[in-house]
Amino acid sequence: MVSELSINRKQECPNIKDIKERLEINYLSKPNLVNSSDDGQDIIQGLTQPQKTLPARYFYDAKGSQLFEKICELPEYYPTRTEADILEQYATEIANTTAPCDLVELGSGSSTKTRLLLDAYQNSRYPTHYIPIDVSGSILEASAEQLLQDYESLKIRGQVGTYQQALNNLPPSILSRRMVFFLGSSLGNFTPQECDRFFAQIAKVLNPGDYFLLGIDLQKPVDILEAAYNDAQGITAAFNLNMLSHLNWRFGSNFNLELFKHQAIYNISKHQIEMHLHCQENHAIDFKNLDLTVDFKLGTSIRTEISRKFNLEHMQQYLTTMGLKHIKSWSDQKKWFGIVLCQV
Ligand SMILES: C[S@@+](CC[C@H](N)C(=O)[O-])C[C@H]1O[C@@H](n2cnc3c(N)ncnc32)[C@H](O)[C@@H]1O
Repeated sequence: MVSELSINRKQECPNIKDIKERLEINYLSKPNLVNSSDDGQDIIQGLTQPQKTLPARYFYDAKGSQLFEKICELPEYYPTRTEADILEQYATEIANTTAPCDLVELGSGSSTKTRLLLDAYQNSRYPTHYIPIDVSGSILEASAEQLLQDYESLKIRGQVGTYQQALNNLPPSILSRRMVFFLGSSLGNFTPQECDRFFAQIAKVLNPGDYFLLGIDLQKPVDILEAAYNDAQGITAAFNLNMLSHLNWRFGSNFNLELFKHQAIYNISKHQIEMHLHCQENHAIDFKNLDLTVDFKLGTSIRTEISRKFNLEHMQQYLTTMGLKHIKSWSDQKKWFGIVLCQV
């Protein structure tokens, strides 16, 4: 037994050393603490409006990231597998179009679909430098280590922080070009005004010739959309409620999850899924770390997410007006999901 262990250790050591040399993770915000004077201002702002809202990024602590991975495998949740199918088919064409470039991913999560791009760039014999960006440090670290084990020549410089923080602190490019990519239709969580600000920031931080690759969920019948966000196993409900647990440990609040109920509905005029937590009883919540008390009444809802559904042609035109020239788009047979490549 002892000798077996020592053999294992001997085999692991060079591997771990090699991985450490190819990995750098930079924390732009502290993982567990309220880290600056403005942290939590978005909570105060959102919970003191007539329609209470919370930013979607608070879905993602370690548990929220795990729940999201389960959502991706649900039969009702078509976006992940549809986007993966498109990438599987067209990743080589994307790599051939962009030629070698630093691969910068916003909201990388488990980086599962990223592997399709990494494979395509490696098969084209391009050097692969990957810069995952995610607000959830636990999933970024775990997936970076796994990727380095599976891709022997890959180098990773992860950034733990918000999109905005990370875009303002992009590490210098190693290759002559970058491709920033934003998959999973996370763009749908932004209001139109937030989209304008986001694309303006992308166009500003990228250099002329750099690429931007965007995955967007497309408009489709309501029943398919509502089923995807109200799955039969209740994983999306647990994911939605977990936001309250996250706030409890991060901001010292005292939400009782049993007093809230998940609901997701499609707002047809705005083309967006709206996820809510409906309060079941009158009560007050204290946020110790924010010096905030919020009254909840029976029936009050907190809107925790919007997930906008887009029109591919409109998106291409919009991106071009934002300084991101449309190069090519790809979709699946049912036209449920789209991937758009643009260049600054
Ligand atoms: C919907 S998941 C998508 C994950 C993966 N890209 C995919 O397509 O399956 C969104 C990811 O973005 C991260 N995220 C959410 N809001 C963020 C923000 N404001 N800044 C940085 N990362 C964020 C989450 O932690 C999560 O990993």
